[in-house]
Amino acid sequence: MPPFIRTSILKRGEPFEILVNGRPVTAFAGESVAAALLARTDDSSRHSNLFCGMGACFGCLVTVDGVPNVRSCATLVRPGLCVETRYTASLPSANANG
Ligand code: FES
Repeated sequence: MPPFIRTSILKRGEPFEILVNGRPVTAFAGESVAAALLARTDDSSRHSNLFCGMGACFGCLVTVDGVPNVRSCATLVRPGLCVETRYTASLPSANANG
């Protein structure tokens, strides 16, 4: 059995702010956007579609700096990053004639 590792001795990267749905959120260097979203406790920025956590399922799509459909689990945070968790993809028109 592997030795138990106390998470309290693990060191996080430097803290900085990102924006999630227009609200400031503290993130840490080296973590993914998904990790930063999961660390939040308020429902407005919580990430509910995280499934595989390794870039395979595309369940964690968010908009990052205006770019839609970015996998949050495979994207590292950086200072000033703007994340939108609301579904913003546009659907094709039901009217074939435009
Ligand atoms: S959780 Fe599966 S791709 Fe991000």
